[in-house]
Amino acid sequence: MVTAVAQRLASQRKEIDDTLATFTLSTTQLQEVKAKMRVELERGLKKDTHPTASVKMLPTYVYRTPDGTERGKYLALDLGGTNFRVLVVKIRTGMRNSVRMYNKIYAIPLEIMQGTGEELFDHIVQCISDFLDYMGMKNTRLPLGFTFSFPCNQTGIDKGDLVSWTKGFKATDCEGYDVVDMLREAIKRRNEFDLDIVAIVNDTVGTMMTCAYEDPKCQIGLIAGTGSNVCYMEEMKNIELVEGDEGQMCVNTEWGGFGENDNIEDIRTRYDREVDGGSLNPGKQRFEKMTSGMYLGEIVRQILIDLTKRGLLFRGRITERLKTKGIFETKFLSQIESDRLALLQVRSILQSLGLDSTCDDSIIVKEVCGAVSRRAAQLCGAGMAAIVDKIRENRGLDHLEITVGVDGTLYKLHPHFSTILKDTVRELAPNCKVDFILSEDGSGKGAALITAVIDKYLYAMRFSDETLRDIMARFRREMENGLGGDTNPTATVKMLPTFVRSIPDGSEKGDFIALDLGGSNFRILRVKVSHEKKQTVQMESQIYETPEDIIHGSGSRLFDHVAECLGDFMEKQKIKDKKLPVGFTFSFPCAHSKLDEAVLLTWTKRFKASGVEGMDVVKLLNKAIKKRGDYDADIMAVVNDTVGTMMTCGFDDQRCEVGIIIGTGTNACYMEELRHIDMVEGDEGRMCINTEWGAFGDDGTLEDIRTEFDREIDRGSLNPGKQLFEKMVSGMYMGELVRLILVKMAKEGLLFEGRITPELLTKGKFETKHVSAIEKSKEGLTKAKEILTRLGVEPSEDDCIAVQHVCAIVSFRSANLIAATLGAILTRLKDNKNSPRLRTTVGIDGSLYKMHPQYSRRLHKTVRRLVPESDVRFLLSESGSGKGAAMVTAWASRLCFHHPTNINTEQMC
Ligand code: G6P
Ligand code: G6P
Ligand code: BGC
Ligand code: BGC
Repeated sequence: MVTAVAQRLASQRKEIDDTLATFTLSTTQLQEVKAKMRVELERGLKKDTHPTASVKMLPTYVYRTPDGTERGKYLALDLGGTNFRVLVVKIRTGMRNSVRMYNKIYAIPLEIMQGTGEELFDHIVQCISDFLDYMGMKNTRLPLGFTFSFPCNQTGIDKGDLVSWTKGFKATDCEGYDVVDMLREAIKRRNEFDLDIVAIVNDTVGTMMTCAYEDPKCQIGLIAGTGSNVCYMEEMKNIELVEGDEGQMCVNTEWGGFGENDNIEDIRTRYDREVDGGSLNPGKQRFEKMTSGMYLGEIVRQILIDLTKRGLLFRGRITERLKTKGIFETKFLSQIESDRLALLQVRSILQSLGLDSTCDDSIIVKEVCGAVSRRAAQLCGAGMAAIVDKIRENRGLDHLEITVGVDGTLYKLHPHFSTILKDTVRELAPNCKVDFILSEDGSGKGAALITAVIDKYLYAMRFSDETLRDIMARFRREMENGLGGDTNPTATVKMLPTFVRSIPDGSEKGDFIALDLGGSNFRILRVKVSHEKKQTVQMESQIYETPEDIIHGSGSRLFDHVAECLGDFMEKQKIKDKKLPVGFTFSFPCAHSKLDEAVLLTWTKRFKASGVEGMDVVKLLNKAIKKRGDYDADIMAVVNDTVGTMMTCGFDDQRCEVGIIIGTGTNACYMEELRHIDMVEGDEGRMCINTEWGAFGDDGTLEDIRTEFDREIDRGSLNPGKQLFEKMVSGMYMGELVRLILVKMAKEGLLFEGRITPELLTKGKFETKHVSAIEKSKEGLTKAKEILTRLGVEPSEDDCIAVQHVCAIVSFRSANLIAATLGAILTRLKDNKNSPRLRTTVGIDGSLYKMHPQYSRRLHKTVRRLVPESDVRFLLSESGSGKGAAMVTAWASRLCFHHPTNINTEQMC
């Protein structure tokens, strides 16, 4: 009898042992897991294997960990772990350990986690609203960092499309959409307060940043909580999804998805499959389901059900309680496994869960929990070993010392998880010394630190499409004011009639001279247009200096200089004895009453010669030529460079009806219906209007988007209070804007370790061409290093990255603002034509547009977004506006000499 009982017990024991043995992993098996994880890490990083990789290796656009110099006051949201939290984080200047945080935890009811996306985000915004009230901060528009603990495809620090929900979330209409947009829209729906969402951050990244603030060696973030995940600092050159090879970027591995391609089926048990099948996302997050808090209790419950069914537990009785999903929370697992608890206490925990157990049952349950949590810790250890070894190899080291910042309820509460994890890493990655530090303050602090790193100065320069549409509407109103007879006298955007009535029609011919003054070069050209078989244009040109003492001296000296250069050019061309028609591209705002009369309204850009404003520049030039008496010239037309550009491009593309310049200065012209131009008589046909959009904002319309740097630029300019839009966007000011931001950041210790050199403080030392060089995707950071070194600041790699970031923000703002004003012109054209879709060509010129590596792409993209109902061709003017000036001249001289009776002749000649 005794032996029968003993035998039964022994066989039961064996059954239990056999069951639990499926959770035991040998060192060899763990090494295999490490090797497979390594393969998936690589596959996730590579462009061609990324789509099928189970570990997605998502770029985060976090380029560096904090260095202790961050400062400011930020809001943070922390969504996706056990608790949803809203926080305010204050970081004091220049000292580590000087962060103060206030936070409030809010519940997210299950029906909201699994309801509609709109309900979820409305709920989040309601919690923010409550928090802002509670803190008395409703009217302070703080930058916000959003810890969002789900996989997101990021294309920037503040853009992330949710890949798929994980853990307990399943709100509809969110997957595939930008989480930041959804939050912004919910804020707009509530219409009660405004926030600048600066960064979206995974909890692993937030944790890494929180810990790195204390320990600079921390370059990995691990979450072992409700979910499981890791991020780490990867070399840019290995991240094929992101352009650029220099420096590092944090990669969110999303290792929870490991195994989705069936490569760890050998170690998954039937219980794992059971848990997976009953989850919100079957087949997904297989590694997470073996390693994280949300699922370990479920695995235990499945084993207990099976053991009970087999009569090995709970006297073979499966109760309703045991059938209840989710009764085993991580905290119970942690309590049951605590060595400090006596068996009796384990039993009472089980009883509190409604599981009526004997002492023997309690022993078995504890063993089951141990097997499941041990395997989880070992698997995380194997994954971590793969990561540290990869980092070690990235850096070409035999030995790596590194710190992992960790957070999550499983890691924090479980009595053995962390020890087993560390032992496994030590065993599987013997060449790495890995320290683990616990994140005390959660990842919200890290999100705030990221926001601080992005830095508070720049968020005011980022515009949402909504803001851009608003600017577009404002500019449309300005255009209408400029065109209207009553409103024109006080309008800031002058909308100057040009007396150019059509683009070239292909019949122009002749021999012309063009002067081209006002851009970065003063150029004189000879343009010969002939008509043998087809129309051909021959051009020869020469660039002349315009020394600063001349453009800032007296007007008569300036025009003497122009006349002298023209004389020299004619001499070289051997045409001094001829009286060729001259077209004059003069790139400043001029009032015309006919083509060859142009009264300068105001100097802009670098020019400031006295006695010219209010004068007709044709008269001034004629006077200077006459004074010389060595040649004669017939100035037939003065055109703005935008008009010259439109005409140059119109020569190649008849559809061209807009000309824009994004160079030293900025401006646009377009073909307007004559009936809308109150300043010119006649209602038939069209005339080109020189908008002079550079003056947009001179009446205060743009004050809400101008920054302290824009004001500083204006104060130091030749024309304070004027051309405020131009000063935010054009090449003459862009480098200087960047320089002012860098000085400010350095003063606050955010850059160059606080060093400020005399060069950095010198106006004009940072040029727009430097912005273009630094933003090149391949060699940009090397260029940044060279340029900054020349300024004497000995930049670190992080400095270079930060400066690149500043350049990108400033140049992006420029492209966005131009897209908005151009958008306004395009929608006006479309309305004029009364057609549902606009098909048109925009001729463009200017050094900024041409030289900057990203500018044109960004501009085109934003225009297409802002004016979706259009097909716009952007045509670069290859030969400058001189050719266009010649076209206008051809047309004018033809009217004068060949059609003396033409009704428009008087107006035009
Ligand atoms: C962090 C956070 C959470 C995060 C969590 C993981 O520090 O601030 O938002 O998701 O830890 O832990 P849990 O166990 O709550 O999932
Ligand atoms: C044109 C011209 C210039 C003009 C310039 C703008 O094609 O021929 O006279 O002002 O482009 O560019 P920039 O970058 O030189 O100011
Ligand atoms: C998510 C991760 C997150 C992790 C820890 C996973 O389910 O996919 O983005 O980092 O949980 O919270
Ligand atoms: C001038 C415009 C010119 C633009 C581009 C501005 O400063 O006011 O007339 O078209 O620069 O050169």
